[in-house]
Amino acid sequence: MIRRLLLASATVASLALTAAPAHAIVGGSNAPAGAYPSIVEVKLAKSFLCTGTLVAPDWILTAGHCGSVTGSAVATPIAFPGPLIDVYIGGTTPGAGETVPVTRAIIPPDYLLTQGHDVTLLQLARPSAQAPTKVAGAADAGAWAPGTVGTIAGWGATSEGGDTPETLQHAQVPITGDDYCAGAYSAFDAETMVCAGYPEGGIDTCQGDSGGPLYGTTATGERRVVGATSFGEGCARPGKPGVYARVADTELRTWIASVAPAAVG
Ligand code: ARG
Repeated sequence: MIRRLLLASATVASLALTAAPAHAIVGGSNAPAGAYPSIVEVKLAKSFLCTGTLVAPDWILTAGHCGSVTGSAVATPIAFPGPLIDVYIGGTTPGAGETVPVTRAIIPPDYLLTQGHDVTLLQLARPSAQAPTKVAGAADAGAWAPGTVGTIAGWGATSEGGDTPETLQHAQVPITGDDYCAGAYSAFDAETMVCAGYPEGGIDTCQGDSGGPLYGTTATGERRVVGATSFGEGCARPGKPGVYARVADTELRTWIASVAPAAVG
């Protein structure tokens, strides 16, 4: 009897393993409807896909390399004109979120290449009806301390070089120390970047997730944005964590608050 039980549970365990990531961010799962009202699908010129977060009723945070027409080509970015940016807020299937016209994209003057300062703020023509998630404030550094588990969510590829999902994906990843990330990436800058991922890889953001949130939880249990998906070598590779714009630390938080005061706190 005990042997049968053991066999049965071994079978269940191996089924669970083989059945695991049919969907993902990479290594993630389908987000339940309504779980992330602040997640935004961002389409640039009807073709490039990014993710973003509604951080105030009329402001979306996304990546610098998502808002810049000139991409990584030049140091002084030229922002996409608002009419070329389509946003779908709070949906869990592609194109199903709330649509609101974008007035303009604002890129920090210090944005260089796709490395530091990899953020853009999209101003909406009117407030969204969805509930925003703010960027964590100065008192909330514990929400993204190394070892803390954060939540990633996005519309990006579910495997390196793979397709984008039919349902919004989410997953959890631990925030790494800065030394570990500096060892993984020579471009790492501890003022404007923070990394997250398991040493063995397997769970990560990927192409199309850029600009989307790394969410943390404050001491009082509130969800806040602590990172915006930026880059990585491949996706979910061992020893290569995802790199996120360090939006809740001084450098980027101060810039975000100067443009959109309601987006922080
Ligand atoms: N730059 C990518 C984008 O445009 C995001 C890559 C994230 N990569 C990673 N391994 N975490 O969507």
